[in-house]
Amino acid sequence: MAKRFLAALNDTTLFVQEWLANPLRTGAIAPSSRMLAAAMACWLPTDPDSFVLELGPGTGAVTQALLQRGLREDRLVAIERNPKMAAVLHRRFPRAHIITGDAWHMDTLLRDHAEEIHSVGAVISSLPLLNFPPAEADALEKTICAILQPAGRFVQYSYHLGKPQPRGNGHFQPVASTIVWRNLPPARVSVYQK
Ligand SMILES: C[S@@+](CC[C@H](N)C(=O)[O-])C[C@H]1O[C@@H](n2cnc3c(N)ncnc32)[C@H](O)[C@@H]1O
Repeated sequence: MAKRFLAALNDTTLFVQEWLANPLRTGAIAPSSRMLAAAMACWLPTDPDSFVLELGPGTGAVTQALLQRGLREDRLVAIERNPKMAAVLHRRFPRAHIITGDAWHMDTLLRDHAEEIHSVGAVISSLPLLNFPPAEADALEKTICAILQPAGRFVQYSYHLGKPQPRGNGHFQPVASTIVWRNLPPARVSVYQK
C-alpha cells in the first residue's frame, strides 16, 4: 500500500517537473486516472499474439491497465520521447519493448528495433495531439494507418470533450467514444477504425 502510494507520488512529481519544463509536449500535469486508463485498455486486439503499440506512455498508467486487461508484456511496444519517463517504464515493464524516441518516427524506430515489428493489432495513444499543428497530427495518423492491421483500432484520448471527427485526413472513422469524468481534467476516449 505504502509502496503504491510512493510510486504514485513519484510519478506525479515527475509529471509536474516535466510539465513545467515543457507543458505542450508533456501534455498533462499528472498521470491518467485508473478509470481513464481502464477505458483506453478496453480495446485490445482479439489475437493474443498481436503487438499493441502504445504512444506517449508517460510513467505507465495506461500500460499497467493494458497488462491488467490481459495483454502479454512481451507483446507491448511503447514509444516515449521523454528519457526520464522511458527509464521508469524500463524498470517497471522489463519484458516490454520500450523505445525512447519520437512517435513521429515510429516506422524507422519499429523497423530498427531488435525484434522487427511490421504491423500491430492496436494503437493506444495518449499523445497530446491537440498541441501539435493539424498537418503534423495528420502525418502521424497516416503512419499509424500504415502500420495498423486492417481490423485494428486506433484509440486516442483527449481533453477536448466534443464529438470525435474523422481523423488523419479521412484515414480513420470514429467507431466509439466515451467521456471519462473521473480524471483531472475529464477526458474523451475515442476509438477509430480504418
Ligand atoms: C498526456 S501524457 C500521457 C502519459 C500516460 N500515457 C498517461 O496517460 O498517464 C503524454 C505523453 O506523451 C509523451 N510524448 C509527447 N510527445 C511525444 C512524441 N513525439 N513521441 C513520443 N512520446 C511523446 C509525453 O512525454 C508524455 O509522456
